[in-house]
Amino acid sequence: MIKKGIVLAGGIGTRMSPLTKSVNKQLLPVYDKPLLFYPLSILMLAGIKDILIIVNKGQLQQFKKLLPNGKNLGIKITFAEQKYPKGLPDAFIIGEKFIGNDSVALILGDNFFYGQNLTKKLQECRRLKNGAKIFLHPVNNPSQYGVVKINDRNKIIKILEKPKKFISNFAITGLYFFDNKVVKLSKALKPSKRKEIEIVDLLKKYNKKNKLSAEFIGRGGAWLDTGSIKDFYEASSFVSALENRQGLKIACLEEIALGNKWVNKKHILSAIKFYGKCEYSNYLWKLIK
Ligand code: G1P
Repeated sequence: MIKKGIVLAGGIGTRMSPLTKSVNKQLLPVYDKPLLFYPLSILMLAGIKDILIIVNKGQLQQFKKLLPNGKNLGIKITFAEQKYPKGLPDAFIIGEKFIGNDSVALILGDNFFYGQNLTKKLQECRRLKNGAKIFLHPVNNPSQYGVVKINDRNKIIKILEKPKKFISNFAITGLYFFDNKVVKLSKALKPSKRKEIEIVDLLKKYNKKNKLSAEFIGRGGAWLDTGSIKDFYEASSFVSALENRQGLKIACLEEIALGNKWVNKKHILSAIKFYGKCEYSNYLWKLIK
């Protein structure tokens, strides 16, 4: 069982300046909550309680204000700083001590997932003992992502980062499950042309040994990444439409913790006190009424 998860919430967010001049992108709102809540909720839905959040150097205090510790959520949150973005696998090098001898899940701080059977799939992925698992979703702009080509038995036959020439429309989403070898393998990676170590190089190593498998979010599900202001706007509209229609929140961390029986009424009351009088707190009230 994978017990540990990392949220990589670094990055400078240059594309979203001036919004990101003083605030980390992952703390900006997607409708009614910070972007960070969405990837964090995915790890919690997977059943992961021990979480490392990697942030940019100098931005630790911003994050700690929002998530002082995981107490109200029944989880353990640790923070680490990244000096500058060196590529996604750097998360496993920074997180070496945190990972210890365990397997680990990684989610990118700007990735948004929503889907009907997602929780079940996530919990199955947590059972990974050996190898690596990725989540795929079709996109109409594959040249902007890591992409895989699969055969009719869902076997991965090609992996490329941001291919200029079309090979497939299956993008590799920012959610990965790895066995413990990931630390050693990440350390051995050489920087690519864009001077970063690349997650696809790591995936290729697993695939070569037939140790990489793919899961699908499914046609009814959504995967959004939020790299631009337009993406934020679209993700916000999506959340607003669903939440206001259903009266249920997406990525309400306290609700997930309550559902997982990690916390009780007392913790929710403490969360309400922490957030103060607001719409989010009103929702928390309803959960314990
Ligand atoms: C990164 C990965 C890419 C993946 C994407 C998902 O891209 O390198 O393989 O498809 O995240 O969001 P980047 O955001 O660094 O361009």
